[in-house]
Amino acid sequence: MQVVIQPNAQSAVALVANIIEGVLRDRPPTVLGLATGSTMEAVYAQLRIFHRDQGLDFSACRTFNLDEYVGLPASHPNSYRFYMNHHLFNHVNIDLQNTHLPDGMAADLDAEGQRYERLIDNAGGIDFQLLGIGRSGHIGFNEPLSAFHSRTRVEWLTPATLEQNAPLFKNGTAMPHQAMTMGVGTILDSRRCLLLATGAEKADILARAVEGPLTAMVPASALQLHANCIVVADEAAASHLQGRKDYQLAFQSDPKWTRFLPSAPMASAACG
Ligand code: GLP
Repeated sequence: MQVVIQPNAQSAVALVANIIEGVLRDRPPTVLGLATGSTMEAVYAQLRIFHRDQGLDFSACRTFNLDEYVGLPASHPNSYRFYMNHHLFNHVNIDLQNTHLPDGMAADLDAEGQRYERLIDNAGGIDFQLLGIGRSGHIGFNEPLSAFHSRTRVEWLTPATLEQNAPLFKNGTAMPHQAMTMGVGTILDSRRCLLLATGAEKADILARAVEGPLTAMVPASALQLHANCIVVADEAAASHLQGRKDYQLAFQSDPKWTRFLPSAPMASAACG
């Protein structure tokens, strides 16, 4: 695992967007694993700009999202399908047929989990997996006690996650208590992965994930087992990391990553 600390959320996001741009440019066709959550909104905004201003090409790209709420149709504004269309897919040249999320409306959710795993396999596996982290320590919706070998399945959401995400549900919609999520094992199978964490409210859980013991109680700690994982954090999210100075030194001497450092302030692009 490599940890990169940026001065603020904006530069952390810019670095992540630059890395994803590099992945898309270097190795098409690419199978991208995508994440949702408020942290990722700025990443997708920057990718929209790269597409609009520099012609970043998504046409050869296939995507697999980490998760989806159970019981929300794609048209529901809180569904992750809606989120992805709104923040990214509707604004770039990706074929929607090549974008995948687990179907939280499937009649047989166990079968849906198996179908999703097969779909990922048939695509050749995930080249690059983007991840956020929930305050419960979840990646995707793998809540505490998720097995490190788990695959795509239904998961009950913990009170911490309900508390974190419920405010996003407006107009009286109750937040589902279940979600379909790629498993921790599915995520560990990705060839490369990147976890982005910003803000002081992530500091404690990020330290437990990066420097704490491997434990199913903190599913993100499983990323310590991943052979090619980078964690990008802003100063606030990194503030509880004991080794933050050492991580910075290691990063500064690694051209594999420093070539992606943002050099200019980001432009802005509205979702429209
Ligand atoms: C949701 C997603 C997670 C994501 C998390 C982070 O719970 N299922 O995959 O990591 O949001 O959310 P935020 O970026 O809003 O803190």
